Amino acid sequence: MAKEILVTGGAGYIGSHCVLELVEAGFAPVVIDNFHNAIRGSNTVPESIWRVEEIVGKKIPFHELDILDETGLQNLFKKHRFSAVIHFAGLKAVGESVQMPLEYYKVNLTGTIRLLETMKVHGVKNLVFSSSATVYGDPAYLPLDEKHPVGGCTNPYGKSKYFIEEMIRDLCKAEPDWNAVLLRYFNPIGAHKSGKIGEDPQGIPNNLMPYVAQVAVGRRDYLNVFGNDYSTVDGTGVRDYIHVVDLAKGHIAALKKLKENCGCKIYNLGTGTGYSVLQMVKAMEKASGKEIKYKIIARREGDIASCFANPALAEEELGWKAVFDLDRMCEDLWRWQSQNPSGFSKN
Ligand code: UD1
Repeated sequence: MAKEILVTGGAGYIGSHCVLELVEAGFAPVVIDNFHNAIRGSNTVPESIWRVEEIVGKKIPFHELDILDETGLQNLFKKHRFSAVIHFAGLKAVGESVQMPLEYYKVNLTGTIRLLETMKVHGVKNLVFSSSATVYGDPAYLPLDEKHPVGGCTNPYGKSKYFIEEMIRDLCKAEPDWNAVLLRYFNPIGAHKSGKIGEDPQGIPNNLMPYVAQVAVGRRDYLNVFGNDYSTVDGTGVRDYIHVVDLAKGHIAALKKLKENCGCKIYNLGTGTGYSVLQMVKAMEKASGKEIKYKIIARREGDIASCFANPALAEEELGWKAVFDLDRMCEDLWRWQSQNPSGFSKN
């Protein structure tokens, strides 16, 4: 029988792509989500999961559940025999986290603690955690390797990722029968090649590429470029954009690592290449055939000039490497956005 893997927040952008890859790799994902970032489809199944089912031709067990709901978690673990948990669930908007820090710490920290406690009670001690390159803060050197100091980020969202990493490290130290892989994502973009699932931010997108895609499809007039006076190739911010399917496959590699009783391991998931905002705009114009208008405005508070990964450790120890290039990321993003101009909600 296929191994049951619990995927918290599995209806979200990265979660849904990961669920798809899990099925294709022969695992049996069980998804929980509280619909904070997901659109409800028919029969209360999230639209994203419904579409994954359509792609893979299989039903995917789904439970509407909040990670803060202790009783719900207990019942879930009684019902299923999980061999590992992939933990995506959490709040993720940087600006909002500055406005409502307690809510962010409650959901991200307390939610994770409840999940870990439930796992412990039920003897499920294998975890993949969705962390972020934001834990590095302003880079002291580039490319960023896993030895770079962490904890330098200034907003509650980023701090919550850092605190959770520390909690998991302490847990693995205290109880050696735990195994955890902490994955530090760089900037995931793109979509599954089918164009059926993708990123669907609610309201005005905070991140660059969903915004650019909405300009390309005519939902927004122009992009605001946050500063062109950084010391980068053209003055605009540089990031390590990675195809979400590559990123999702990194989780499959992480699950295999857990089987080696690896203790606590940390890996960057990035490509190693940085692109500027204006290079991204050009790439998306090429993929979509649309002009993407933009205006240069002031820098966004808290932004850094450049950030890109040294992904060598993941290749060495997980046997994982990003394979999709920038053109492919933009083509897949455009397929999703043009086929679903309003996201999941109104097609
Ligand atoms: C942002 C978060 C980071 C989080 C990551 C998750 C902030 C300050 N940082 O990172 O903590 O882990 O998302 O994906 O929010 N840009 C524009 N115009 C826009 C949007 C973005 O010019 O409308 C620029 C930014 O200044 C930056 C680049 O595009 O140079 C990428 O921005 P974004 O997609 O928000 O990602 P990060 O800043 O890397």
